Amino acid sequence: MISEQKILNARIMIIDDNQSNVDLLKDILATEGFTSVLCLTDSRKAKNMYIAYDPEIVLLDINMPYFDGYDLLEQFRDIEQSSYIPVLVLTALRDNKTRIKALKAGAQDFLTKPFDNVETITRIRNLLTVRILHNQVKNQNTILEKKVQERTIELKETRLEIIHRLGRAAEYKDNETGAHIIRIGKMSSLLGKLSGMSEEQVDLLLNTSPMHDIGKIGIPDSVLLKPGKLDAEEWKTMKKHTTIGASLLDGQKSGLIISARQIALTHHEKWDGTGYPNGKKGKEIPFEGQIVGIVDVFDALTSKRPYKDPYPMEKALSIIKQERGRHFNPELTDLFIKHFHSFVSIKKALSSENDIVPENFILSERDR
Ligand code: C2E
Ligand code: SIN
Ligand code: SIN
Ligand code: FE
Ligand code: FE
Repeated sequence: MISEQKILNARIMIIDDNQSNVDLLKDILATEGFTSVLCLTDSRKAKNMYIAYDPEIVLLDINMPYFDGYDLLEQFRDIEQSSYIPVLVLTALRDNKTRIKALKAGAQDFLTKPFDNVETITRIRNLLTVRILHNQVKNQNTILEKKVQERTIELKETRLEIIHRLGRAAEYKDNETGAHIIRIGKMSSLLGKLSGMSEEQVDLLLNTSPMHDIGKIGIPDSVLLKPGKLDAEEWKTMKKHTTIGASLLDGQKSGLIISARQIALTHHEKWDGTGYPNGKKGKEIPFEGQIVGIVDVFDALTSKRPYKDPYPMEKALSIIKQERGRHFNPELTDLFIKHFHSFVSIKKALSSENDIVPENFILSERDR
């Protein structure tokens, strides 16, 4: 609904070189109760006034010195950048030629000279109603579009939030804090960037790599938290965290989840084909899986686990060097080694107290 107030407060512009016409129209409008009327007799000022005043309706004379009514219609159309310009043209009663030409130039309707009070008011009210409705629909569309946009961003953020929390839930069991998964995100995206991935892929990796161990949710604490070495049966169970993770992330169409699933499934495959769960070899292993594989080992080596204390950085570096071409893609290993200091910086910046290497560190059985 359009309120009477809105109509009476509408910005009206009168452009007519004949001062007595202007005065007459002004009187009719004032008597009806219109409050905002701007009058102009010099057509050269019309364009700037139109821009400054942003009229909701224009009462426009045709025959004027300098610019005539048709010229001004053209100028207004440029300003509005649409074919709709809210113009009532002032014409003599039987001047059909002028009327048709004005309609073609974009005028909406006519006011007949000499002015009839009732006709003038009725036509102005009609055109204003159309104009105000038109603007309301336009504004509503803009608001709707903005809402949809906000909602889309919110959904994306919520999804990321859930993913991070899930990743954290898995790590909570064998890590004291969720810091590990944040480091994995940062280090994976760094290695991805160094290896020439696009910005979009790097961003995806930042958000999906934290889910690599999500399948640990399905591993019994008696195995996961065992302080010592796993026996054959326990090791068989442990390796299932890859396929459990993949099945948790199965059947989704989102690129984010598909990539996360790949990583959960393949982050323990090895370049030489001796990894699990599928013994994939070399480039058969999805590239994201190769990246998270190397970063995950570095982080595990330099962190405390229920079954091991953290190793010093030099020890971690020498293990990674040994695994070049065995566990890890040789090119990725070279990149990792070349930029080792950057990975150490991320590790140190995002570590909790429990990750700090103690003075008298202990090596686990397998690396003695
Ligand atoms: P995680 O603790 O996150 O370790 C990830 C990967 O880092 C390991 O994958 C392994 O490739 C590497 N890594 C970790 N610690 C060492 C180490 O002391 N020396 C060397 N050379 N590499 C190491 P992996 O072996 O496939 O193990 C997967 C997960 O199984 C581990 O994730 C951990 O949760 C569990 N796990 C592995 N070994 C043991 C163990 O002896 N005892 C217990 N309780 N859990 C284990
Ligand atoms: C891939 O992009 O999936 C293969 C690239 C690589 O393994 O180096
Ligand atoms: C080391 O490089 O020996 C230990 C450094 C650290 O983990 O803070
Ligand atoms: Fe894992
Ligand atoms: Fe991990």
